[in-house]
Amino acid sequence: MSTNVHLKFLFLLFFSSSLWDSHAQHVPGVAAHNSLKPGDTLNSSSSLNSPNGRFMLRFYLWPAAFGTTNYTYLTIFRTSDLHLVWYTRQGIPITNEFDLLTLENNAGSLKIRRHCDNPIELSSSPQPTNNTLAFLLDSGNFVFNEVYSNGSTKRVLWKSFDYPGKVLLPGMKLGVNQKTGQNWSLIAWLTDDYPVPGAFTLEYSGHQLIIRRRGVVYWKSGVLRGNEFENISPKVTSMYHFNVVSNGNEESFSFMCKNGSQESRWLFTSTGKLLGDDPQPIAQADKCDRYSIDGGCQRWNQPQCRHHHQHGYTVELNRGYFVSEDDSSYNISDTNLGISDCKVSCWGNCNCVAYTSLFANRSGCKFWTNISNFVPDDLTYLDLVYILSRKLSHSGKFPLSVSMNNRQDSNLNNISWALVMRSIFTCTEQTQSLKMI
Ligand SMILES: *[C@@H]1O[C@H](CO)[C@@H](O)[C@H](O)[C@H]1NC(C)=O
Ligand SMILES: *[C@@H]1O[C@H](CO)[C@@H](O)[C@H](O)[C@H]1NC(C)=O
Ligand SMILES: *[C@@H]1O[C@H](CO)[C@@H](O)[C@H](O)[C@H]1NC(C)=O
Ligand SMILES: *[C@@H]1O[C@H](CO)[C@@H](O)[C@H](O)[C@H]1NC(C)=O
Ligand SMILES: *[C@@H]1O[C@H](CO)[C@@H](O)[C@H](O)[C@H]1NC(C)=O
Ligand SMILES: *[C@@H]1O[C@H](CO)[C@@H](O)[C@H](O)[C@H]1NC(C)=O
Ligand SMILES: *[C@@H]1O[C@H](CO)[C@@H](O)[C@H](O)[C@H]1NC(C)=O
Ligand SMILES: *[C@@H]1O[C@H](CO)[C@@H](O)[C@H](O)[C@H]1NC(C)=O
Ligand SMILES: *[C@@H]1O[C@H](CO)[C@@H](O)[C@H](O)[C@H]1NC(C)=O
Ligand SMILES: *[C@@H]1O[C@H](CO)[C@@H](O)[C@H](O)[C@H]1NC(C)=O
Repeated sequence: MSTNVHLKFLFLLFFSSSLWDSHAQHVPGVAAHNSLKPGDTLNSSSSLNSPNGRFMLRFYLWPAAFGTTNYTYLTIFRTSDLHLVWYTRQGIPITNEFDLLTLENNAGSLKIRRHCDNPIELSSSPQPTNNTLAFLLDSGNFVFNEVYSNGSTKRVLWKSFDYPGKVLLPGMKLGVNQKTGQNWSLIAWLTDDYPVPGAFTLEYSGHQLIIRRRGVVYWKSGVLRGNEFENISPKVTSMYHFNVVSNGNEESFSFMCKNGSQESRWLFTSTGKLLGDDPQPIAQADKCDRYSIDGGCQRWNQPQCRHHHQHGYTVELNRGYFVSEDDSSYNISDTNLGISDCKVSCWGNCNCVAYTSLFANRSGCKFWTNISNFVPDDLTYLDLVYILSRKLSHSGKFPLSVSMNNRQDSNLNNISWALVMRSIFTCTEQTQSLKMI
């Protein structure tokens, strides 16, 4: 009896010391360094690795964006390039207690414990049990299983693949299961820098991929036929094998790389682009302008004033400033709004001629109504302003107008980089910067 207890203690000691040692995976015969057994905890300075070392689970602190609360997320990173592949959708507000966060496998439940607040329960089994195991699979799926005493799986209690964020990994599902009520969809961030849920969602229904913006359908892939989607380039689809489940209970979609690579990742950006492994995007809902149906774009209602000569309006990104703003500008200070919301709001107001984000972290909206007040100027410290102009008219163009996407993307990279640099200081263990987009 006492020997038993002693062995158990030794085992736990061995187990917990090997668990956090990243070199342990290279030592033959060292087992279970990739799992949390009952009573084990993962703290904010340790990580859990998949057996093949390809994925890593850890707490990650996002620095407060401009003076607001710092948030921590339980995250999964791909180790080869430190790209983020999964995160809890809800952030945990942190003041100065980052060190005291733990993930625990305890009495049949998997929970995140904070210093004094109530724990956040990710999963709990119906009855208390000591036969549970949490581990990170080679696919990047973090699972919490009930196991038999011989170690084999009795049932899956919880898995991270059921809670996708903005990344789709090989084997991760999109779709619905009517029987369990499970619903898998991607939700893009409000801005590319901060994990706040944004305006765009990607779902699979009616045998096709659908991108919505605040519920309005912007883009459809067309029905999947013989591993091809009508509105996705065959060059892109030829890289993948699509797996569809379609029965009374479940309608779902997932992909695998034809060459067997597990390094693939589909990324859904804050502007509604779906990026895969090819430089050519899978979908570009940001290009959908309500007029054309090219590439799967959908048409939707718009005010009469925007139907100019049947060709409509376009948006150009310019650098510059407005003079005498007071009587010709207005704003919406709602920090849940992103730039796509500003565009839609400006579009819907026939007096609106230009818009941009209100706050430095790219939330909120600012609008202008008198374009004569705009002074284009290429000084880089000036704001970028989105200007609505008629498609066929050249009179409304400014000499500095640039390709919207090029300018926007390079600017986003700069901003992201600045945030990444800040993050390095909050994660002293990092030797490489973590990529958040
Ligand atoms: C985190 O866990 C590791 C391994 O169990 C331990 O060595 C370390 O002291 C813990 N850190 C904190 C802040 O509790
Ligand atoms: C963005 O900035 C505004 C104003 O400073 C702030 O209220 C808001 O919480 C910030 N949003 C995020 C996600 O940090
Ligand atoms: C957020 O985290 C940073 C870096 O750890 C820290 O300097 C700052 O005080 C924190 N801010 C808040 C509001 O807790
Ligand atoms: C789980 O293990 C702990 C410590 O060994 C024990 O006190 C507890 O009763 C066990 N719970 C169950 C449900 O078996
Ligand atoms: C483990 O135990 C369960 C239940 O007793 C049994 O169904 C299963 O076949 C066993 N698995 C192995 C690998 O022995
Ligand atoms: C799936 O969940 C999202 C978010 O909770 C919801 O908006 C959507 O309507 C759901 N879709 C289905 C088909 O249940
Ligand atoms: C396999 O395909 C993926 C994308 O589908 C690509 O990123 C990767 O480079 C390919 N690997 C090899 C060895 O061809
Ligand atoms: C937004 O508009 C209101 C009302 O005009 C004004 O008081 C406020 O200062 C503006 N906010 C910003 C951040 O410019
Ligand atoms: C727009 O601004 C110009 C230049 O400041 C001014 O002359 C004109 O009256 C303004 N138009 C309106 C409708 O306010
Ligand atoms: C991004 O940063 C580079 C190097 O600092 C700079 O040359 C470039 O102009 C910046 N781009 C934007 C859009 O600010």
